Amino acid sequence: MIKIAPSILAADPLNLERDVRKAEKAGCDWIHVDIMDAHFVPNLAYSADVVRRLKEVTELPLDVHLMMDNPETMVDLFLDAGAFCLTIHSEIHSDIAAILNRIRQRGRMAGIALKPSTPVEMAEKYLKLADLTLMMTVEPGFGGQKLDARVLRKIRMLKDSGYQGEIEADGGIREDNLEMLTSNGLTVAVMGTALFRDRNMTACIRRLHQIGSLE
Ligand code: DX5
Ligand code: ZN
Repeated sequence: MIKIAPSILAADPLNLERDVRKAEKAGCDWIHVDIMDAHFVPNLAYSADVVRRLKEVTELPLDVHLMMDNPETMVDLFLDAGAFCLTIHSEIHSDIAAILNRIRQRGRMAGIALKPSTPVEMAEKYLKLADLTLMMTVEPGFGGQKLDARVLRKIRMLKDSGYQGEIEADGGIREDNLEMLTSNGLTVAVMGTALFRDRNMTACIRRLHQIGSLE
């Protein structure tokens, strides 16, 4: 069954606790937390303190997506704060293998993310070090964008390569395009706008889990 990870970038920043508790009650599987440094992406979002506070109000695993340059300076901060999975981008100019190993050494899931235009070949050397591969289905930096269907080919490619880790997608995922992702091998779907705008999140999650169990 597909795992659903609501992206709190689409939650009400003045009522994060309320919205995260609502998502947990509605049957979500993980909570996706976007961290943006206004350098790797043209936007600024959240911090390790927010991760720490979220850890106090939810049992759900915190799936932390670092859209930042030089994450090596902050990896332990996010792990200390309670990240269950910590994902860095394959386009950064850091020692990516060392960072992924550090995350695993601390007993957490290590994730590698690819922008839509980044070919799978570019990240191949890191796949064996990653428990999760995040295929961005939008250009990272903002919620509410349209899904880039060209990424489906990359998801299928990773699936067919025999990759054993989680295959996650992020950006523009909605109920009416989820099946085309799961039928190509997706195992974790990050959803922001489509989920937090739904009036009945519980019913929505039930339907999404059904879609994801068709495969
Ligand atoms: C974008 C973020 C996503 C975003 C998803 O850079 O990584 O997690 O919040 O939001 P939607 O589902 O609205 O595209
Ligand atoms: Zn994200």
